[in-house]
Amino acid sequence: MTDSSNDAVHGRAAPKLPIQGKRNILITSALPYVNNVPHLGNIIGCVLSADVFARYCRLRGYNAIYICGTDEYGTATETKAMEEKCTPQQICDKYHAIHKEVYKWFNISFDEFGRTSSPQQTEVCQAIFKKLMENNWLSENVMQQLYCDKCQKFLADRLVEGVCPTQDCNYDSARGDQCEKCGKLLNPIELKDPRCKFCRSTPHIRDTNHLFLELPLLKDKLEEYINHMSVAGSWSQNAIQATHAWLKEGLKPRCITRDLKWGVPVPHEKFKDKVFYVWFDAPIGYVSITSCYTPDWEKWWKNPENVELYQFMGKDNVPFHTVMFPSTLLGTSENWTLMKTISVTEYLNYEAGKFSKSKGVGVFGNDAKDTNIPVEVWRYYLLTNRPEVSDTLFTWVDLQAKLNSELLNNLGNFINRVLSFIAKPAGQSATFGNGAFTLNLEAVQQILSLII
Ligand code: 2FM
Ligand code: ZN
Repeated sequence: MTDSSNDAVHGRAAPKLPIQGKRNILITSALPYVNNVPHLGNIIGCVLSADVFARYCRLRGYNAIYICGTDEYGTATETKAMEEKCTPQQICDKYHAIHKEVYKWFNISFDEFGRTSSPQQTEVCQAIFKKLMENNWLSENVMQQLYCDKCQKFLADRLVEGVCPTQDCNYDSARGDQCEKCGKLLNPIELKDPRCKFCRSTPHIRDTNHLFLELPLLKDKLEEYINHMSVAGSWSQNAIQATHAWLKEGLKPRCITRDLKWGVPVPHEKFKDKVFYVWFDAPIGYVSITSCYTPDWEKWWKNPENVELYQFMGKDNVPFHTVMFPSTLLGTSENWTLMKTISVTEYLNYEAGKFSKSKGVGVFGNDAKDTNIPVEVWRYYLLTNRPEVSDTLFTWVDLQAKLNSELLNNLGNFINRVLSFIAKPAGQSATFGNGAFTLNLEAVQQILSLII
């Protein structure tokens, strides 16, 4: 059975492929971590923004596909599995379904919503890795990592907490991979006063062998890409700033492997007990999810002359999409479709503080549904309050005010007036049906000329 007849059997439209001579637009939104219910900040930050763009493209007649899915590997999932006393796979299955349900309620028009814990992900990820290896862009190195004697394991970056080493930050609950307050990416051994997140004891440094992507050697190729695409794709100021901040610090080799179980296995004899770092495999998820959408995925992803890649994300994801992922793809020497345009959102804050999944503060996708406020109102409010150039604030009072003033008063009133205006018999009129409804054609013309 061919793939298209398979699609017909399953009642699914045949997958779209790039069409010569048309604008072919590949849209992605950052793959949300699977281990939590998404909150409104996540929804406006990526999936809803990309959805509006995808709808716009389709209306313009562009040949567009929108790809997303859950980011399932890594420590966050392993930790959640420990908390919920189940396996990482069970966590992923449970939360993937929750994400899917929430986005369905928000009418997000994905062409494919997949997941990274798939055989396709292993295949694409390992193939990319082998190319990087062949091309000598990877180096082996000893890495110093924090080891907790009490828990008897290396602590993944996120499982260490301590004081942020940035001088004017000093946030006392910075995570080992990134300080949530100042946004700086960290190496856990830089943290002051580190603590094991499981048992609170002080971990100590131990050596472990890992593989590194040699970003310094890829610098010229990368800078050529950034300089060209940031202009061609009109990158926003916040994207350019975050990218240059990374480049300015000087590109360092980035470790792409981890001492974990839940991830894509590293196909290398010396590292066979390790997995890829989640930030190495996550962006590859865009590709593998497309390969679940169509076996002809390379027509989208290895076709830079005919495909424009638009990527949507929150500001903390920028360097991974402008530096890490392009470097990974450039390092394969294959003809990948690299990101043309990046759309970045700042943060949507909640009432007086931040949305926080871990602390359960904010409005989550399922809460929005339970309010019985129609989804279109949520979509409208989030989109008009999109944190485009600076952080914005969600408050219940503001939601109520916007609903009453903008939707009910302004829009509702406008529609009401238009309907009563055009229904008034005057001048030339046309009668419909049983004659109960008479259209004032002059008024219709006036209104249309205002709109069109
Ligand atoms: O910040 C996040 O939620 C990450 N899971 C985003 C990954 S984006 C892409 F690389 F997959
Ligand atoms: Zn411990």
